[in-house]
Amino acid sequence: MCGIVGYIGNREAYPIILNGLKRLEYRGYDSAGIALYDGEKMHLSKTKGKVADLEERVKSEIPTKGSLGIGHTRWATHGVPNDINSHPHVSNSGELVIIHNGIIENYATLKKELINRGYTFESDTDTEVLVNLIEEIQKQENVKLGKAVQIALNQVVGAYAIALFDVKKPDEIVVAKLGSPLAIGIGEDEFFIASDASPFIEFTNNAIYLEDEEMAIIRKGRDIKIRKIKGDTLVDPYIQELKMNLEQIEKGGYDHFMLKEIYEQPAVIKDTYRGRLLADKGIVRLGGLENYIEKFTNADRIIIVACGTSWHAGLVAEYIFEEWARIPVEVEYASEFRYRNPIITSKDVVIAISQSGETADTLAAIKLAKQKGAFVYGICNVVGSTISRETHSGTYTHAGPEIGVASTKAFTTQITVLTLIALKLAKEKGTISQSDFMLHLRELELIPSKVEEALKSNDKIEEIAEVFKDVSNFLYLGRGYNFPVALEGALKLKEISYIHAEGYPAAEMKHGPIALIDEHMPVVVIAINSNHYEKVVSNIQEIKSRKGIIIAVVTEGDKDVKEMADYYMEVPNTPEALTPLLTTISLQLLSYHIAVMLNRNVDQPRNLAKSVTVE
Ligand code: M6R
Repeated sequence: MCGIVGYIGNREAYPIILNGLKRLEYRGYDSAGIALYDGEKMHLSKTKGKVADLEERVKSEIPTKGSLGIGHTRWATHGVPNDINSHPHVSNSGELVIIHNGIIENYATLKKELINRGYTFESDTDTEVLVNLIEEIQKQENVKLGKAVQIALNQVVGAYAIALFDVKKPDEIVVAKLGSPLAIGIGEDEFFIASDASPFIEFTNNAIYLEDEEMAIIRKGRDIKIRKIKGDTLVDPYIQELKMNLEQIEKGGYDHFMLKEIYEQPAVIKDTYRGRLLADKGIVRLGGLENYIEKFTNADRIIIVACGTSWHAGLVAEYIFEEWARIPVEVEYASEFRYRNPIITSKDVVIAISQSGETADTLAAIKLAKQKGAFVYGICNVVGSTISRETHSGTYTHAGPEIGVASTKAFTTQITVLTLIALKLAKEKGTISQSDFMLHLRELELIPSKVEEALKSNDKIEEIAEVFKDVSNFLYLGRGYNFPVALEGALKLKEISYIHAEGYPAAEMKHGPIALIDEHMPVVVIAINSNHYEKVVSNIQEIKSRKGIIIAVVTEGDKDVKEMADYYMEVPNTPEALTPLLTTISLQLLSYHIAVMLNRNVDQPRNLAKSVTVE
């Protein structure tokens, strides 16, 4: 959560930082701020609200000259979102200025000690404590900024990505990382700092991703010194070539990133299986899995840990892994798993699923599973992310940058990878027939064009959205492979439209939720061709006889459900195990249109942030 940006070099820092903040706004958007050094003085401007509010404020508040600066967009943890709690924060002397993404857990104790030494605090933030702690250490120990930062971070408990400079020494920025991401872009005589590479992608393709417990001293026109925060060892910088391009992080003519990302799904699903799925030859090849197949095939069970939408992808995987590979699967919320002393042995394989690769709970679950001896496999979208590095091996989804806070293409590409893994393991174990194996490989190759077909219902789905945009509650029902899709559909609606929605296994309805059904309750039922078709038809009848309104997701060519439903959305036919890749599309579009009609901020829904790097 929170986005940080910094620049030191020969260009004007302000436009780079402002633009960078706009690109990182998906990480948090409660407040924003900037500190610029104009060659003589540091100028600070910050405000509650969005980066656009900051842009307005800067116009009347500070000069925008200077080639050194840092900026921040915030998702509030300590202290309500207001102007004072916004970053950057300045030390009591006015000389040190800092931005921070993360949480300093022991800030209250540190704050008391600093107050006893005469420090005063304006804000309620943990970050203001950190910058004053650094200042106090600088004074007491008579050390340079880098050393003071290092000593301070050794006293701190928590997570951080920080960047700070000293107005007395405006040729250097000090950065450090533990648990929150931090990338350094390397230009010619210039350096960029950011939570991800998107703020500097048009300036350089070379970046260093700091590892946890590393800090860097970045000197204008000179070099970068990276060292361990504990122990003081120097680290050789590892410069990566970025694969991301500008087009991927722009809206490309769509009104919202979410819509663009929904429409990217045919392409990114293909990107995700390209080179891995060789249907003609009957081969699935996953680099990260090849050397570890036996870990999976000999495992007592697979435990999947994830949060939110990634957890829903894990639930889909439970069905396909058990069906094809006959390996018992448990799917856990990472946040629960990490705190309940789970029974895990070295015979367990843990799969961690995360789009961002930075989710704090998932990361903690991985660390716990590793401590207990399990083999941990990661499925991440962001290359080089913390989770991708913390896991023993893994497979990347190739969704490209997902900017909309509501996850769409990450979900379908996660299911694509999980399907490939399940098929590979089933083949290896001999638990799937050759004909079934081949059928699913071929059908998976057809999914991108079938997603395109499903997207053609967009106008019709928009009309359905118009009818239901003002209701207060929705129920989503699905069975089997589509039960997790019902959960995902409800989550999508909740998070971007703020309409209350519940996802349920269709057959569970009669154990309670049926009491909610009346003529005002829209029920989205996933009623595609499947083994449960007849049973879902019965569920629909139960709803109809209580005057509920049915919005059904049906397979093209369906007759029965279409007749019974008040509204329907069609998807092409595909084997049941692959249907989540299609049914999801209709539900994403339904949520999107309702949210747009309600004038919601679709890409940045209230109270949320794209990557949840705090507990
Ligand atoms: O980056 P991750 O996949 O680990 O994120 C997990 C959840 O925070 C995320 O899926 C969240 O639920 C989305 N907002 C859902 O659209």
